Amino acid sequence: MLTDVPLHTPEFFAGNPYPAFREMRAGARVWWNDVTKFWALVRYDDIRFVSSNPALFSSAKGIIIPEVDGEELIQPENLIFTDPPRHRQLRKLISAGFTPRQVALLADEITKIVTGIFDEIDTTREYNFAEDIAAPLPTRLIADMLGAPSTDWEQFRHWSDAIVALNDPDIEQDPLEAMAELYEYFLKLINLRREGVSTGKTDLLAILAAAEVDGLKLTDDDLLAFSFLLLVAGNETTRNLLAFGMLNLIENPDQFALLRSDHSLIPSAIEEMLRYNSPVAHMARTATADVEVGGQLIKEGDRVAMLYGAANRDEDVFGDDAEEFIITRDPNPHIAFGYGEHMCLGAQLARLEARIFFEQFLTRFSDISLVGDITRLRATMVPGVKKMPVRLKAGA
Ligand code: HEM
Repeated sequence: MLTDVPLHTPEFFAGNPYPAFREMRAGARVWWNDVTKFWALVRYDDIRFVSSNPALFSSAKGIIIPEVDGEELIQPENLIFTDPPRHRQLRKLISAGFTPRQVALLADEITKIVTGIFDEIDTTREYNFAEDIAAPLPTRLIADMLGAPSTDWEQFRHWSDAIVALNDPDIEQDPLEAMAELYEYFLKLINLRREGVSTGKTDLLAILAAAEVDGLKLTDDDLLAFSFLLLVAGNETTRNLLAFGMLNLIENPDQFALLRSDHSLIPSAIEEMLRYNSPVAHMARTATADVEVGGQLIKEGDRVAMLYGAANRDEDVFGDDAEEFIITRDPNPHIAFGYGEHMCLGAQLARLEARIFFEQFLTRFSDISLVGDITRLRATMVPGVKKMPVRLKAGA
């Protein structure tokens, strides 16, 4: 029965939630989950309304669906957990590191990392696309942006996995322990930067340490919180955009052939990948007053989850073919990066990473095929791809 949709479980999101989303959109606009007590929003307009009203829907009390045994790692001064006016101050300062110019400067580094990954591929063997090919790009890039030596890249990935996959049985390290180790590591990087030790590259921490808006500067604690956010927010998300995106192409050979025949379609294909399998399954808010959403009264203090994957297939916005993967879709106003106040700060960077990745892929490999089952990550927020066994064939 629809009232029993197990929206509080990682298994629901890591399975195929789309048939349930479709039924939910056709039924009540707003759904109550009685197990861990929250409202679920599945319609595009309702999610945009909530995201655009931070005064009524706060991020400060948590942004994740409560899980039965889960803990939420809330860090009060972290950008993503703050509300206006503090959020606006922090965001203005941090935006200094994400201007179009700063993002464009990273293109060479991204190309270098992607080239390195593809150069090492041996087409006679099998790869886990998610772990071996997609994951290294965002992790290495963020580690590099923060000035970490490349010898530490693997360790970065390990910490990040442990923190995001709170309930995944395959991840062995305790998330709180991983967080503590990561904080210590970031503090070392920040101290080096404060001492004037430069990495000689686009140095995000140095830019942020120097940023000043209305006489305000970021403290060491702000930098620490932000470094942590960057790793968690920019890493798993981008990895899954690449993995799901490739899966969408493999499962839709006509669309794959179209993209091969016209590489100028890569940017619009990426928008469709973001819409079709939105890497972030949900973000949550807490109502600060009694308020009506989609005809439902939400009481002050109630938790509300915005299910982006459901909104991005809303027939009222994307039409009768909303359930189809169409790389030429236009317009494509998906909200995979969120909307309004907290809209993803790394959206342009993620798009650039994906563009360079698929451009290079299409010029180097003539085929890719799935050679085994996909294993998903147990998580309610970024229920990504853990195993995706593939074989590749060289050639354009
Ligand atoms: C495909 C890749 C990505 C997706 C789908 C994604 C998705 C999102 C979403 C949905 C939010 C909104 C949070 C909310 O409303 O509470 C968000 C926020 C954020 N994202 Fe991303 N993200 C991606 C990549 C990145 C990257 C590459 C970075 C940075 C390197 C990044 C940094 C951030 C930050 C800093 C925020 C917080 C913004 C704020 O609170 O004002 N993201 N992201």
